[in-house]
Amino acid sequence: VSLLFLPYGRQTIEDDDIEAVVDALRSDLLTTGPRVAEFESAFSAKVGAAHAVACSSGTAALHLAALALGLGPGDAVIVPSVTFLATANSVRCVGAEVVFADVDPETGLMGPSHLEEALSRLCDARARAVFPVHLNGQPVEMESISDIAERNGLAIVEDACHALGGTYRNTSIGACANSTMACFSTHPVKAIATGEGGLVTTNDPRFAKSLRTLRNHGITREPSEFANRKLAFADDGCANPWYYEMHHPGLNYRLSDINCALGVSQLAKLDRFLDRRRALADLYDCLLARLAPVVRPLSRVAWGHSGWHLYVVRIDFESIGIDRAAVIARLRSAEIGTQVHYLPLHHQPYYLERYGQLSLSGADLYYSGVLSLPFFSSMTEEDVERVVDALFTLIDKH
Ligand SMILES: Cc1ncc(COP(=O)(O)O)c(C=O)c1O
Repeated sequence: VSLLFLPYGRQTIEDDDIEAVVDALRSDLLTTGPRVAEFESAFSAKVGAAHAVACSSGTAALHLAALALGLGPGDAVIVPSVTFLATANSVRCVGAEVVFADVDPETGLMGPSHLEEALSRLCDARARAVFPVHLNGQPVEMESISDIAERNGLAIVEDACHALGGTYRNTSIGACANSTMACFSTHPVKAIATGEGGLVTTNDPRFAKSLRTLRNHGITREPSEFANRKLAFADDGCANPWYYEMHHPGLNYRLSDINCALGVSQLAKLDRFLDRRRALADLYDCLLARLAPVVRPLSRVAWGHSGWHLYVVRIDFESIGIDRAAVIARLRSAEIGTQVHYLPLHHQPYYLERYGQLSLSGADLYYSGVLSLPFFSSMTEEDVERVVDALFTLIDKH
C-alpha cells in the first residue's frame, strides 16, 4: 500500500470554495472590487475589531503596520527571537532597528521579563514599539506586555499570523484589546487560506485609513485632502475626475477579489476548522502520552486558547540517541513531513552581523527540542495514529 504523504500543514479547500473563486473570476472586477470590503468586514466582525485591512500577505501586513506607525531610522522595535523572518524584517525594511527578546523555553512565547530585559539592551535607538508573536497560535500574556509597553511609550503590533481563531482571556486575538494593530496571514498552511494574503486589524480609524492608503501607493482620491488646489479642481470648484494625490509613498499591497472570494468562503468555516484542529491536538496529546517524557507536547498557556496553527512537540533527542535531522529523515521515508519552527532569528547571518552574538538561552533551548508534526483540518484520526506509531517505532529502536 503506498501511503499518502502527510505534510506538516496544508489548506483545506472544498467545492464551495472553488465555486466562490469561479464566481469572482466571472465577475467584472478581479481586483479593487466588492469582495475586498466583503472579506474585510467579515474578518473584522469575526475577530471583533472595528477595522480590518486586507493586503497581499502577512509580511505585507507587518510592513504596512510598521509604515503606519511611522517607524524609521533611529527607532527600535522589540521582537522575540523565535518567530518567522517577516516579523523582524518588516522592522528593518522601514529602517528601524530590531532588539531581539528571549522567550519561554517551554512555549516559545515572549513574556514580560523577556521584554524588560530586551529594553535594558537598547543602545542609541529609541524604543518605539513591540511586536509580540502568538507563536504556534498560543497567545502571549498581553496584559503584562501592555503594562510595560505603556510605561515605556511603546506601540504594540501583534504578530497574529499563527493565531486566527485564538483567544486571549475573553477576547479574540485580533480584537486589539491590548494593542494598536494585529497582523494576520492567510497563507495555505494557516487557519484559513487565500493563496497568499494578509490582514491588519485595528480599532483606530486613523490607522485603518493610513493602512488603506499605504497598501495602494499612498494614493488619496479624497478632495478635502488635496494639497494642490489649482491642479485638483476645475473652475466650477469640482474635483477633476482623473485626479489623485500622493502625500506619502506607499506600495501595491492590495489583495485581489479572487483571493478575497476565497477568504470569505474560508472564513465561514473557521470555527469548524478550528474544532477539528483542536480535536486532532487532543488526540495527539493523548496518543503521545506513551512516549513521555522523551516526547512532550508543548505546554499550553493558562490565559487563553490557541488558534492551533501548528502542533509542536519537544523531543529529548539526546536521550533517544538520534538527532533531529535523522528523526526528520526517517519520518520523511515513512511519508511524514515535519518542520522546525524556527531557527532563532538572532542566529541568522544578517542579524548576527548587524547585532553581534546574543545570549538568548530560552530561545536556544526552545529551538533545540521542537518539531512540528503534520497538522491540518482534513487529517484523519488514522493519520495522527500513523505519525505517533512512526515516532514510537523509531524511538523504540533506539
Ligand atoms: C509568525 C509569522 N509572521 C509573519 C508571517 C508572514 O506571513 P506571510 O507568509 O503571509 O507573508 C508568517 C508566515 O509564515 C509567520 O509565521
